[in-house]
Amino acid sequence: MSDLAYERKEVILRVADLSLAINGRKVLRDINFEVKDIVRPGCTQGQVLALLGPSGIGKTQLLRMLAGLQRPSTGTVTVTDKAIPVHPGMIGMVTQSYTLFGWRTVLGNLMTAARQAGLPTREAREKSLDLLRQFHLEPCRHLYPAQLSGGQRQRVAIAQQVLSGGHYLLMDEPFSGLDMLEEENVCKLIVGVSCADDLNTIIVVTHDVRAAATVADTILMLGQVRSADGKLLPGATICEKYDLIERNLAWHEQITTRPEFYDLMRELRAKFVSLAGP
Ligand SMILES: Nc1ncnc2c1ncn2[C@@H]1O[C@H](COP(=O)(O)OP(=O)(O)OP(=O)(O)O)[C@@H](O)[C@H]1O
Ligand SMILES: [Mg+2]
Repeated sequence: MSDLAYERKEVILRVADLSLAINGRKVLRDINFEVKDIVRPGCTQGQVLALLGPSGIGKTQLLRMLAGLQRPSTGTVTVTDKAIPVHPGMIGMVTQSYTLFGWRTVLGNLMTAARQAGLPTREAREKSLDLLRQFHLEPCRHLYPAQLSGGQRQRVAIAQQVLSGGHYLLMDEPFSGLDMLEEENVCKLIVGVSCADDLNTIIVVTHDVRAAATVADTILMLGQVRSADGKLLPGATICEKYDLIERNLAWHEQITTRPEFYDLMRELRAKFVSLAGP
């Protein structure tokens, strides 16, 4: 049980009966979950959901459907309790390749995102500079993407999506290729962005079990399941949900020093291993 008071209120994102087949091969099946607005008295609390699963299982495809960039074979993705169907541009996505405009500087990339979100030039510049400070990118402001390290490029890509407006942010493998310190920084950034507004909702796809457990309030595990007679069903689905709030593992400083955190990591690893070799 959580020792922090909270309530789950309106639906922010709902995924219903989603499935995807590519070239006649079922990749994902029966995906159902919802993210609700978490309300905590006295603080601004966003939502962070982590999606774990073996390589090639369909995590990127699922994110693309959540962002409206890939049409599902069946099912729907809707936002808010008014069930508005998702459409491209509504939900920001930081891809595995951190897409930036190569011919624009770091500041130029951020200002373009802010201008596209409708901010006038002066405000776009101020907000971009503010985020550059927050993301420790000020020294890089006049550099071009090709002149950045992987970690720096990734922070620019996150800042760009934050500026693009909206409350939703999908991140595909945000921890890959980062050193320990950079990983900690990105974890802090994710928590910081999620807590900037009650409605902010971040979905992180990762193989990094430790980072997922550090930032998320909920973890979903994607994998293939077997039918009652032991046959492997085609397509992956959500085979486990971990509520870190109820386990009292969300929103605490220094969470990684608690023994329960390591119990959870062991549990996640065991599940992951059981999925990795069907
Ligand atoms: N454009 C495509 N054409 C055909 N098959 C594809 C295409 N994109 C993805 N797939 C297939 O869909 C499945 C899911 O791919 P996806 O990229 O979503 O996996 P993933 O879980 O994100 O893997 P990783 O952890 O390695 O990034 C894979 O079997 C892949 O081969
Ligand atoms: Mg992927």
